[in-house]
Amino acid sequence: MSDTALLVARDLTITGPAGDLVHGISFALQRGGTLGIVGESGSGKSLTCRSLLGILPPGVSVTGGSIEFDGRDITALGYRDWQSLRGTHISAVFQDPGSYLNPSITVGKQLAEVLRVKTGLGRRAATVRAVELLASLGLRDPALVSLQYPHELSGGMLQRVLIAIALCENPQVLIADEATTALDVTVQAEVLDVLADLRESRDLSLILVSHDLAVVAQVCDEVVVLRDGLIVEAGPTARVLSDPQHTYTRLLVENHARYGIERYTSELADA
Ligand SMILES: Nc1ncnc2c1ncn2[C@@H]1O[C@H](COP(=O)(O)OP(=O)(O)O)[C@@H](O)[C@H]1O
Ligand SMILES: [Mg+2]
Repeated sequence: MSDTALLVARDLTITGPAGDLVHGISFALQRGGTLGIVGESGSGKSLTCRSLLGILPPGVSVTGGSIEFDGRDITALGYRDWQSLRGTHISAVFQDPGSYLNPSITVGKQLAEVLRVKTGLGRRAATVRAVELLASLGLRDPALVSLQYPHELSGGMLQRVLIAIALCENPQVLIADEATTALDVTVQAEVLDVLADLRESRDLSLILVSHDLAVVAQVCDEVVVLRDGLIVEAGPTARVLSDPQHTYTRLLVENHARYGIERYTSELADA
């Protein structure tokens, strides 16, 4: 694969107690690139992401192939090496951001605490930096937001807070696994815009995972279509959307088109 690739999976096989779950898949995330992984629920998207973060669930492991980050083989890193790579180089956000926050501490304090522990900033500097980070994620009143508790924030705001936490240590790669799935369409589009902006402003490379092709299409240059732990199709998003080669991809594109029409007609009905 090309030399500009930052993160490369080669013949990656992931195995659980009952057998293989991901069957030898290969893909590459280019430096500054955006790679979408799309597929139905259960197709192996999250396990693939977790393997890239060294956080596969108990009983599940990489049993074949390799993962390379910035030219370094990270397939078989030990716990400590993963600890030092995660957050600093490869970071992630998931669905249900609220569940990652302490309900009884303001989000600003939680963000500042992560900054303090992970980057060694003093308390005061961390508080200032937390507000700056929230501002950089397009939150309109970051100083106010930082003083609020998780339950006072909307899903879209919470996900921005989690993105801020994920970016504390300036990682090169951000993995967003169904990070906008629980949000309504408008807020989802806003958060996707934030991710696209971050790629520009921070030179971040993105892996965006969704069961929804429309989400991936909005942000990603390249897309991998996963089905039952196998890649059925991969390529530039525009090509895959306009000229899908595999029946399964064609189905995803058709569903997407139908969904788009439904959205349009329901907006007409609402007007
Ligand atoms: N901890 C686990 N132990 C055993 N099988 C698992 C585990 N986690 C996920 N799986 C199985 O692996 C497959 C892929 O799961 P997952 O990567 O979560 O799919 P997706 O994110 O695409 O919905 C599914 O068949 C799922 O049941
Ligand atoms: Mg998943």
